[in-house]
Amino acid sequence: MHAGSSQPPAPLVRLVSSPKDLQQALCIRLAVFVHEQGVPPEEEIDLRDLDADHLLAEVCGRAVGTARVVRLDAGTARIGRVAVVRRSRGVGVGWALMRACEVVANPWARSIILDAQVQVFGFYERLGYIREGDVFLDCGIEHVRMRLAL
Ligand SMILES: CC(C)(COP(=O)(O)OP(=O)(O)OC[C@H]1O[C@@H](n2cnc3c(N)ncnc32)[C@H](O)[C@@H]1OP(=O)(O)O)[C@@H](O)C(=O)NCCC(=O)NCCS
Repeated sequence: MHAGSSQPPAPLVRLVSSPKDLQQALCIRLAVFVHEQGVPPEEEIDLRDLDADHLLAEVCGRAVGTARVVRLDAGTARIGRVAVVRRSRGVGVGWALMRACEVVANPWARSIILDAQVQVFGFYERLGYIREGDVFLDCGIEHVRMRLAL
């Protein structure tokens, strides 16, 4: 990058491939969902974490975001736990994470579902996800189901 450029460095998104990577991903989730949003820690980590594909977004070698992809059935993937640390929001990290999740699901999934917090509904809508059904509460936070056909 040229000196004085205001372009933020592009995020690099990759699959978690070591216990250290997973620890970094879980630390981001704890910071965002438990400490920032008040989700109970015992609900944040669940059994789906054992068989999910976890992704880690890095900027300049620092872990700044994470998400996971769960295989629900033969044709449906579920993206969840999408989190970007506060200081790195608004510069494309979440977008890059979502597109990387879709690449992970694409070989076997026909559609992707997710439960969007109502306050970030617009983020997923911009990515092409379509709302399905009514608002519901999960961990005291309003959510809405959304789907993307692949
Ligand atoms: C939601 C979240 C993952 C978005 O990540 P981010 O890195 O800030 O998003 P990006 O910078 O990649 O934004 C991509 C696009 O979505 C838009 N966007 C981002 N957050 C948005 C929001 N809350 N509402 C509507 N649009 C939003 C951006 O403006 C951008 O659109 P543009 O390209 O037209 O400018 C991040 O804010 C976050 O971690 N929030 C706390 C955890 C959370 O709520 N996770 C979602 C659980 S369902």
